[in-house]
Amino acid sequence: MPTKFKYVKVKDLDEAFDFLKDGAKPLAGGQSILPMLKLRISKFDYLMDINNLDLRYIKEEDGKLRIGALTTHNEVASIKTLSKVALTIADLQVRNRGTIGGSLANADPSANYYPALLVLDAKIKLSKAKGERILDISDFYESPYQTKIREDELITEIIIDKESLNDEFKFSIFKKGGSAYPNVIVAMKKFKNKDKVRIGIGAVFEKPIVLDLDYDNPEKMANQALSLISLKPLDDVHTRGEMKLKIIKNFIKNMLENNTSDIIEIFERKEKKDSNINPVAFKADEKILAKIKVNGNEIENIVEPRTLLLDFLRANGFKEVKRGCDEGKCGACTVLLNGKAIKSCLTLAVQAIGNDVRTIKGIKADEIKNAFIENFAMQCGYCTHGFLMATYDYLKNTDPKARDETLKYSIKNICRCTGYVNIIKAIKQASSSLLDEN
Ligand SMILES: Cc1cc2nc3c(=O)[nH]c(=O)nc-3n(C[C@H](O)[C@H](O)[C@H](O)COP(=O)(O)OP(=O)(O)OC[C@H]3O[C@@H](n4cnc5c(N)ncnc54)[C@H](O)[C@@H]3O)c2cc1C
Ligand code: FES
Ligand code: FES
Repeated sequence: MPTKFKYVKVKDLDEAFDFLKDGAKPLAGGQSILPMLKLRISKFDYLMDINNLDLRYIKEEDGKLRIGALTTHNEVASIKTLSKVALTIADLQVRNRGTIGGSLANADPSANYYPALLVLDAKIKLSKAKGERILDISDFYESPYQTKIREDELITEIIIDKESLNDEFKFSIFKKGGSAYPNVIVAMKKFKNKDKVRIGIGAVFEKPIVLDLDYDNPEKMANQALSLISLKPLDDVHTRGEMKLKIIKNFIKNMLENNTSDIIEIFERKEKKDSNINPVAFKADEKILAKIKVNGNEIENIVEPRTLLLDFLRANGFKEVKRGCDEGKCGACTVLLNGKAIKSCLTLAVQAIGNDVRTIKGIKADEIKNAFIENFAMQCGYCTHGFLMATYDYLKNTDPKARDETLKYSIKNICRCTGYVNIIKAIKQASSSLLDEN
């Protein structure tokens, strides 16, 4: 269970700024702050849910692309240049809730966005009760988990010059399996009509860095890039620093030599549902009566602000929802929240108040269930519910054709006993039968 806190879901920016003055901590997607609260790393009085704020948008205005801070990673993936940057974050469930503003504020040195936004010269808009300021992304990051955000400010928008998006953009990532953070990230912009290349590197040093290089042969440029770096590469549990430098060099060479596109097309949904929005604003200082619609029936129970949706569901008999890792990695606890797959171990019960929660018993998914049975895609069955829920959202909202290039970045649930071959066969079979049906 996370440490104790009071919860408030604010109705607008004015209310948010009032709570910020009193030291409240913003909650966006919760995909970084909830793990921190479970680990007792973060402590404060009020956790301030900002998901009602009007900050979820992608729009073009005056030659600028403007991305609202609450735009989720899966929504950012619809921006062609940023499609691979966003789709390679974690897995489908984390991307349904995690937001671009939350990722930048969290300032993990291995976060996907920093190297990409550095080469695109993005700007960050910070707003407070009276006024706002706009910072270059290169001035925004200070050190791991530290940025220039002041206590009375919120990130409200990320701004990118449209012109910057016309240049060829490439993105490479090295990471171990599952929904782990990357171990090496390289982003590259090849300037049109200029013999220049800009390179962003993340997950290797204590901060993301950016380098400008003149065009030369790829081998020389890769060597030159390494010679310009004075920071020491950091070892992590999977990859030694020295190995990371070799990977950077290979990535740079390949990205310069290879002209294939790094754009991943995703399915454009007609009807956009949102896993975060609950239009009601309320406060929960201590225990409250939570009314949550699960599989079409309203379930009532007393919860603390820190009660996880996973515990609420299991306590009320929805035992098909399983607890696995409890840290957002295995996907065993996946359910649908307003039609989107999310991890119930990284979602608070109070966040689901007034929203629609579904388990497999509350949706029609015969093609998917049959495909899992026919392909023997389970043994003990512990992970199966999570896989079915993630597959349902993936085929409905990301890629009904289950192409390899989206599947490998989307379904990352962990199965301890079956292995993944039959599970992938089942997902592909369900995709063809759903496509045949439509
Ligand atoms: C299993 C797992 C794997 C992951 N893998 C990756 C990965 O491969 N690559 C990657 O980049 N990320 C990864 N992440 C992190 C993920 O991208 C998070 O979504 C992101 O870091 C935080 O966004 P959030 O909206 O969930 O923020 P929250 O968790 O809600 O908040 C994070 C921090 O930002 C603050 N904050 C949030 N919004 C604002 C705002 N608008 N203004 C000011 N402060 C704000 C909060 O107070 C908090 O301190 C992973 C997470 C998990 C659980
Ligand atoms: S992801 Fe929730 S229990 Fe593992
Ligand atoms: S079938 Fe046993 S954990 Fe996946």
